[in-house]
Amino acid sequence: MYKIAVIKGDGTGPEVIDEALKVLKATPFKAEYTILPFNGERYLTEKKTLSDDELKSLNNYDAILLGAIGHPDVKPGILERDILLKLRFGLDQYINLRPVKLYPNVYTPIKNKTSNDIDYVVVRENTGGLYTGQGEFKNKNTNDEVAIQSMVYTKKQVERCLHYAFETVLKRNKNQKWKGLSEKEKENGFIGKLTLCGKTNVLTYTFDLWERVFKELAKQYPTVLTNYVHVDATCIYMVESPEQFDVIVTSNMFGDIITDLAAVTQGGMGVAASGNINPEGVSMFEPIGGTAPAFTGLNQINPMAAIGATHMMLSHLGEDKTAENIETAKINVIQKMNSMQAAKMGFTTSEIGDLVVNELKKVLVK
Ligand code: IPM
Ligand code: MN
Repeated sequence: MYKIAVIKGDGTGPEVIDEALKVLKATPFKAEYTILPFNGERYLTEKKTLSDDELKSLNNYDAILLGAIGHPDVKPGILERDILLKLRFGLDQYINLRPVKLYPNVYTPIKNKTSNDIDYVVVRENTGGLYTGQGEFKNKNTNDEVAIQSMVYTKKQVERCLHYAFETVLKRNKNQKWKGLSEKEKENGFIGKLTLCGKTNVLTYTFDLWERVFKELAKQYPTVLTNYVHVDATCIYMVESPEQFDVIVTSNMFGDIITDLAAVTQGGMGVAASGNINPEGVSMFEPIGGTAPAFTGLNQINPMAAIGATHMMLSHLGEDKTAENIETAKINVIQKMNSMQAAKMGFTTSEIGDLVVNELKKVLVK
């Protein structure tokens, strides 16, 4: 019996999480779900975000399922810092794992690219960099004002993230070598590829550290082909030749930015799921899409990203078979949908959940 904490959050968060729970409850995965009230609504009524005790209590769960946090009536930055980032940092979820996969029959704005071309994973560092909030104002509200926001990385943070990224390459290519390898590379013993995305030409401290540790660690992974690409060029290749990517590893800020671009290439926020991973602790799974206030309560939002988050959660918990079944059911339903975009799916939010449950029944009896 697993213990799962569920933070539905704000906006369309509750709607998509309800469908995710509907799907989970239709599988043999046995769990007790505890619904927790951390969101913008509670902040507005009780002035509470997430206390240290509440944060600590999350260590009693096997995993966390999160909808989305954010409220139009709360000044940007408060809920992000005091709930979402507090969860990620406080539980030391140092990896943000963001698979980028274009499923068959899903529209991509990139011409002539198919599900064979857009199939990679972004390993985003999740506890450091520009997100730590370190910085200051000097001479605030004068003409000589200076604002500083520091990109801070420790060697240990960089090392554990890169280590996880190398391991991700091995895991992804355990049964099948990365399709982008040339015959010669395969002959040379490579099975997959890790791309470090940075900005060594300008951020000469932070990314110098990343690059040095990357090169050092690469020696321990002789079967992983490695390369380095600046973040701006990474954006070009993600559009022009996404087939060159297997696993991309990058800093917190760059990972945030490139995974929005990546999400669009895989059909949009409606299908993009992610995992905030602490390999030694409690991990949290969430759709990337946000609260989508314009669609709140309309039963029109796409729950596939949240359902994808349950797939990631189960596979993280080692429930591989059930995870795979959810993935198969999800892909089968995607084939029937008109679009991945809210209000254009050809189905309501709850109908999509029902369809996945139906597919799951077929998949499970096999
Ligand atoms: C994401 C989001 C968050 C981030 C925001 C809401 C703080 O954009 O999960 O990508 O920047 O990490
Ligand atoms: Mn983001």
